[in-house]
Amino acid sequence: MSYSIRKEVLNVEKYVAGKPISEVKRELGLDHVIKLASNENPLGCSPKAKEVIKNMINDSALYPDSASYELKLALGKKLNVTKDQIFCGAGSDSLIKVLCNTFLSEDDESIMASVTFPRYDTNTRLMGAKSIKIPMKNNGLDIEAMVDAITDKTKIIWFCNPNNPTGNIFKKEDFNKVLKRIPERVIIVMDEAYVEYVESDDFPDSLELLKENPNIIVLRTFSKAYGLASLRCGYGIATEELVGYLNRVINPFDVNLFAQSAAIAALLDEEFLNKVYETNNEEKTYLYGEFKNMNLDYIKTHTNFIMINLNRDDKPIYDALLKKGIIIRPGFLLGMPQWLRITIGTRHQNEKMIKALKEVMG
Ligand SMILES: Cc1ncc(COP(=O)(O)O)c(C=O)c1O
Repeated sequence: MSYSIRKEVLNVEKYVAGKPISEVKRELGLDHVIKLASNENPLGCSPKAKEVIKNMINDSALYPDSASYELKLALGKKLNVTKDQIFCGAGSDSLIKVLCNTFLSEDDESIMASVTFPRYDTNTRLMGAKSIKIPMKNNGLDIEAMVDAITDKTKIIWFCNPNNPTGNIFKKEDFNKVLKRIPERVIIVMDEAYVEYVESDDFPDSLELLKENPNIIVLRTFSKAYGLASLRCGYGIATEELVGYLNRVINPFDVNLFAQSAAIAALLDEEFLNKVYETNNEEKTYLYGEFKNMNLDYIKTHTNFIMINLNRDDKPIYDALLKKGIIIRPGFLLGMPQWLRITIGTRHQNEKMIKALKEVMG
């Protein structure tokens, strides 16, 4: 049987996700496994969001509101934009695909950093378009060079800020300079999946910039600081005009009932979010100290993960940590061999991870 699989599908690789705890337990016969691989929230989610989910269980038979009306209202209020400037999907991952479906055709180009969130590349190539990958500068995005790479074929430029997997940010002042050089016909995606963790005053205010730059699209998610990764809820902010087009492409029932309701509860629970920042900051300081003691270089992070430089092959270290029940993200899968990306966990998880890391590093 010869199926007609599109050549674009034949040419992309399957995404290798962080291993789930259940798989590692099953494959390695382990009882206790700690996952610090996918930048999930080690504190879980807001107790108020959990309560909402429990209360909605009897509504499972109904389709969710395809407009995510209440969620968009809540987000609009919080972010000071209209509800029609917001679009929602099953994770920002789903929305990255929607952006590619909306703006890219065969032979178009989209520009991204060489080491960044890999879904921009995959979804670009699935549309038959070309990914233009710009080498990193000091382990961060070279935003000048990214903008220099714009051609007549460029349709999207992807800025991941803070960048995954490096965890660093580019600054407001530097971004303002390059923004002036981006033509209005090019869509500027600001992927801010980790924005809630950023404390720096130098971080670009993308929503403010959107007011003057109608080609900006901001992407955010409930999967990280809000701790709702499993429910799959991401959102974006753009002009009402662009949101109108994106809504034609988004699957009508992408955001399920539990996700919509839990996201609203999570958004309003500032007490939980403050606990998330505090814990993340305390644990970041603890881990910086431990890495320093171990003479391991790291990239200063603005997120809930840290990239550390092993200065040696990362694959054997990753494998050895797995056998000890610690799942982290090896650099070889992220375009940074010899590095490990480690999610900041609870003190208990971090201590276990550091102990295991010391053992496997010898
Ligand atoms: C930079 C970035 N963008 C988008 C996503 C997708 O997140 P989700 O689909 O869970 O919203 C992730 C997840 O790791 C990410 O790191």
